[in-house]
This record gives sequence, C-alpha cells and structure tokens, in this order.
Amino acid sequence: MPAKWLKDTVFYEIYPQSFFDTNKDGIGDINGIIEKLGYIKSLGCNALWINPCFDSPFKDAGYDVRDYRKVAPRYGTNNDLYRLFELAHQKGIRVLLDLVPGHTSEEHDWFKMSSKAEPNEFSGRYIWTSNWIWGCRNIPYIAGEAERSGTYLLNFFKCQPALNYGFLKPEEPWQMPMDHPDAIATREAIKDVMRFWLSHGCDGFRVDMAASLVKYDDEKKYGTSAIWCNVREMLDKEFPEAAMVAEWSDPKLALRCGYDADFYLSNWGNGYEKLMREYAGHGADQPDNSYFRKDSAHDMTAFLKEYIDWYEDTKDKGYISLITCNHDTVRPRFNMDFSELKLCYAFLFTLPGVPFLYYGDEIGMRYQQLPTKEGGYFRTGSRTPMQWAEGKNLGFSEGCADALYLPVDPASDAPTVESQEQDQASLLNTVRRILNLRHQEKDLQADAALKILSAVPGRPVVYSRGGLLLAVNAAAEPMDIDVKTEDRQMIFTLGEVQVESSKLHMGAQSFAVLK
Ligand code: NOJ
Repeated sequence: MPAKWLKDTVFYEIYPQSFFDTNKDGIGDINGIIEKLGYIKSLGCNALWINPCFDSPFKDAGYDVRDYRKVAPRYGTNNDLYRLFELAHQKGIRVLLDLVPGHTSEEHDWFKMSSKAEPNEFSGRYIWTSNWIWGCRNIPYIAGEAERSGTYLLNFFKCQPALNYGFLKPEEPWQMPMDHPDAIATREAIKDVMRFWLSHGCDGFRVDMAASLVKYDDEKKYGTSAIWCNVREMLDKEFPEAAMVAEWSDPKLALRCGYDADFYLSNWGNGYEKLMREYAGHGADQPDNSYFRKDSAHDMTAFLKEYIDWYEDTKDKGYISLITCNHDTVRPRFNMDFSELKLCYAFLFTLPGVPFLYYGDEIGMRYQQLPTKEGGYFRTGSRTPMQWAEGKNLGFSEGCADALYLPVDPASDAPTVESQEQDQASLLNTVRRILNLRHQEKDLQADAALKILSAVPGRPVVYSRGGLLLAVNAAAEPMDIDVKTEDRQMIFTLGEVQVESSKLHMGAQSFAVLK
C-alpha cells in the first residue's frame, strides 16, 4: 500500500542548480529552496522532488554521485539540507531526494578502490570482466582506464560505472549471481544511504533508472524487482512512511515491487508523447501534433489506451505519476501556448495518482536552444534559471550574469512569477486554482475512481472522478456534449462553458468540472 500522505499530494520538481541563488555565485542553493517554500506552498504543491544535490563532478548534472552522503558544496551543507527538511515539514511539505542506485561517478571512492589491482572490499562493487579488452552482449563498457586487468560495464554515460547487483542468469565466470556476497553488499550499501537521509528527515526518494540494477534481467524484471521488494521490506520496518517513486515507466512492474508511484514518461511514439509532445525525449527539432494543440490532428485514444490499461491494473497497488515535463524533456511551452497549457495542466492535475509540476512550468517558461551543460545536451534547454521577477537575472541571482549556471530567458516577454501574480487569468494563478480545487475535492485526489465516459475522436473528452463530472474540449471550435447535467453545479471552468439540462456547451479550448 502506498504511503498515506500521497493521497493528497502534488509534487514540485526542483533542479537545484537553477531554482534560486542566495549566495550570488550564479548557482541555485539549498537556502534558495528554503526561501521559496512559501511560494511552493502557495502553488498548492505540498511535496518536493529535488534532483541530485550530492557531491559530484557534475558530468551528468549530479547523476554522477561522488559521495552519496554529502551535499555538494555549491548547494550548501548537509546542515542546510536538514534545515530544509525541518522547515518544509513545518509548512506541510514533504521532501524526496533523488537516489541514484544504478551507478556512481567514476570519482566515487568505491570505484577508486574497485579499480585497484590489489583485491579489496570493493573489488566486486562494480561489474568487471575477467579479460582486459572485451565487455559483454550490448552493455557499454570501458577498457584501458584502470590499474586492474579487466574492463568495467557502464550504466549510462562514460563517467557512470554500473554498480554490481549481479546477473539474473550469469553466463560467464566473472558475472556474479544476485546472491553473491558482493552483489548483496551493493544492495545493503544503497539501503544504508537511504537510511542515512531518511533518518535525517527526508521523506523518500525518486529513484533514478529504477529498472537498471540486475544485468541480463528478464522481461518481467524478476531480478531487479526482488531487490526493490527487499528494500521495501526494510522501509516498512524502519521507515514505514517513506515513499519511493520510480523512474521506470512501467507501473505494472514497479508498483508490484514496493514502489508507491511510477512515472509515465515519454517513449518513442507512446501515449504520453501523443498527449504532451511528440518526440519529447528526442530533441527539440521535431514537428508536433500533440493533443492539447488547437490544430492537433490527434485524439486522446493512444494515451487513454495505455494509461487506462495501466490504471486498471495498478489502481489498488499504487499510483501513476503524470508530469508537466522534467529535467530530461522539452518544456511544454515549447509546443503549447498559454491556453493550451492551461487545458493540459487541468487535465493532468485532475487525473488519479500523484502529479508532478516541474519548476517554471507554472509560468510557462520556455525551452531554450543552448549548448550543452553538464551532460545535458538537448535537455539543457529545460534547465535554465527560474524566472522570479523583472530586472537583474530575472530575480534568480544577484550574481554577475556571466557567472550564471545557464543564461536566463533573454526574451523581452520572458514570463515571470512577479508579472503573473498580478493577473488573475495567468497560467500561474490558473495552476493555483486547479491545485486548490484538487485539495478541496477528495474526488480529484489520488484515489477517487476514474471513468472515461466519452473519448470519441474529434469530440471533447468526458470523464468522471468519483462523483465529479469533467470535460475537456481542446479543439479550436466550440462543441456540445450530450450529458446529464441536471442537479449539477459547475465548480471550475476554463474558457467558455455553459450548462443546459442535458447539454454542455464547451467553447473552444475549454475545460469544466461539475459537482
Ligand atoms: C535519468 C535521469 O533523469 C537523467 O537526468 C540522467 O542523466 C540518467 N538517468 C542517468 O542517471
């Protein structure tokens, strides 16, 4: 069963580099997050996911961890982070850290020890071949870098050697089975990292590449699932309130091995892409035809087919997390205008499960075309500094513009929190209205049943959550829906919506919630 506190939770994802800089060095910091807790709460977000904020050479923006137990000095100190947990909790905000269990930085002490020719406690912490030049199957590997005679397997970039959790069915003598003491030691070491942060007050983890642990795993991820079940057992005993959110995007598997929630992420041609942005994960230079665009030729069928199948299968086990975007994808403002964004968020935030809002999406920050930074490549454009106010560095930092982690949006109409605060109809205030409503109406929260009442191509989508009736018309033309509306009261609208006894007149790009 998922942690109870997730029942009415909306997450705010923070890329710490770019959120708010309090010491003028051009990089966001933990104290910056602390200063903005009131703002986060004002949005209606009551939980945070902070991207890795640990000591790192930052060749992959911190997903290359050098010390799991130490806050990167550029963000502050461990004490700052403990203070953040405490102050966030005082405001009713939970905090998830980012756990990277599949790999470390090549600069992690474990890896330095593991690379030594002399056998030692860490020799089997990573996956080393017994020969000096070859790897195995199609897992990338590095040869010629270590003192030790052997090559090592990678989990992602060149700087990220894969930790050793064993192979489901080893095929060569150097491939350890999952129950080898070295593979078990890796699992236990990661559990200790979790214990460390949980005992200092964090509320759980977003888990990076959660499916990647056991090598040569089968289709059902039998090996990797067994590890997560074991981790869950520990959590249930020692930290029963802790939540784990998987970067897996296969909730049928993830929610059966102890995860509270799993993200629905973009994958070439999948339903989420058709909903949010085609080719979302594959660069910014592709055409788009996604659902909320006024000129879209897509209906919601592809998304609903996949989503409802997952939802029906997992609704008693845990949650699916829908995101506005994240640090790995193109921002939704890239392909949607403000009216489309409002509809899109209204839809995402009224579905079951636990939604995530990526910092800056609440004001419609743009995706920027930028050279790569810290292994970001095309993702860099979604990682620029938060735009707080007009003026110097758009309120992100009082440091020098040249020192900023990434440049701020140079456009004269760059959206800011300050300007949107003034405007009742702004995207920012619309997000607040929707999230407020979600907190007020139990039927809009994580557990209330979802039913799709109508999703005929070219027509508005009509759905119910518990006793509420909802409709979205993403088209540029008004449309009527035949639906029983007697005895119902409209509690939320976007665009023009009118009720008649057995009809809803949905204006162009409109959204309605009826009680
Ligand atoms: C997924 C993370 O979201 C991404 O940013 C990172 O580069 C890879 N995992 C590797 O850790």
